Amino acid sequence: MTAGPGKNPYRPGAATAPLHLAGREPQMARFKKILAGAPEIPANLRLTGLRGVGKSVLLKELEEIAKVEDWTVVRKQLEPRHNTEEELGSLVTALAQATQRRMSRTQALKAKVADAWLASRGLVNITVDDVTFSLAGSTKVESELAEVLFETVELAVKSGHNGFVLMLDEAQVIRDDKDRDGEHPLSMLVAAINALQEVGLPVALVMCGLPTLRANLQKARTYSERMFKGEHIGELEGNPGAARDAFAKPLAGTGIGADEALITRVLDEVEGYPFFIQLWGAELWEAALETGLATFTTTLLDAIEEQIYSRLDEEFYAGRIETLTPSEQDVLMLSADCPYPPLKTADIRDRSAKSDGNINVLMGRLTDQGVLYRIQKGQYAYTAPKFAEYLQRRARSSGPVAGRGS
Ligand SMILES: Nc1ncnc2c1ncn2[C@@H]1O[C@H](COP(=O)(O)OP(=O)(O)O)[C@@H](O)[C@H]1O
Ligand SMILES: [Mg+2]
Repeated sequence: MTAGPGKNPYRPGAATAPLHLAGREPQMARFKKILAGAPEIPANLRLTGLRGVGKSVLLKELEEIAKVEDWTVVRKQLEPRHNTEEELGSLVTALAQATQRRMSRTQALKAKVADAWLASRGLVNITVDDVTFSLAGSTKVESELAEVLFETVELAVKSGHNGFVLMLDEAQVIRDDKDRDGEHPLSMLVAAINALQEVGLPVALVMCGLPTLRANLQKARTYSERMFKGEHIGELEGNPGAARDAFAKPLAGTGIGADEALITRVLDEVEGYPFFIQLWGAELWEAALETGLATFTTTLLDAIEEQIYSRLDEEFYAGRIETLTPSEQDVLMLSADCPYPPLKTADIRDRSAKSDGNINVLMGRLTDQGVLYRIQKGQYAYTAPKFAEYLQRRARSSGPVAGRGS
């Protein structure tokens, strides 16, 4: 290759690892400790935060940590269709089986060691039935789930691992029905993990998702607060700080720099949100190359700021809205006009011709779709940072900004 700047060093994109992962050392250190405390203390972690804050890339780092610590790991991003006992059960079963196959292929079974290990914990006599026994209202799916998880942990230990970690991203899509006769996939999963942990097996569950996940877990009948360590993933800190590192460090060694005034302005604008940092960086990089500049400057930013916002609106926000029904969109657009934070149902009622009941239903649906999360009765927040400002931009623009593209 000839001299000159190479690839864009910024990585705006869902679950796309940044060149420099800034400011997550404390979370990573804590996760290592959580694993070290197992199985005596259940090694479960709940990671929550707004969209674009860096949960998925952190989860991938935690996966690497678990591997280094000799745990066998499987990580999966959940989808809305997994929100039934049947679907979640078969997904987790398939994941556990794939993990088992991987272990059988790559690990020489250290059976002797493992037998001693299991015996020392008095586990050899534990049968699947004993495990499923503690599952309230155990169904076929539930017992199969406990059984396959049990086998996976057993194989993990036999093959010389410290245990088995199941990592689920976008876990807010899994939630129990209020109705007793409804679907309770979250309770089912938590119960199976809990049953294994209660008999001292080294299995760990990491659930990662929007802030809604926390409330979903609290409502699950088989959940107890002490089962999970909670970790809230927030925006990165200031200048100097992790936000500055996230923006400035990818430029190191590229031959392109950024002047101080520009850095300050970008950090002011992005408010520490990692996706925004990557997007601003990526756009400034392209613009610098196009104009032949070796430094990001405020003049350069002035020239492209509008373009940055239209890319932001399209890539980060618009998709959320387009999948909503027209009445859901109506309520959301009305919310742009309300004081924030928090978003109060009462303020929407004041601005809408819809009935109170109807508005409640729509707020519930926006929560289910992951656009809002509920803080307390009648109070909500947006799951995406700076969403209120986006809605205001959208309201101002004549046609839907979002209409183009996919
Ligand atoms: N700690 C960080 N430092 C720098 N960039 C980050 C950091 N965390 C995330 N990013 C970037 O932010 C964007 C969103 O990350 P992602 O993990 O997908 O967020 P989430 O899962 O919370 O929606 C990606 O472009 C990623 O490269
Ligand atoms: Mg994510």
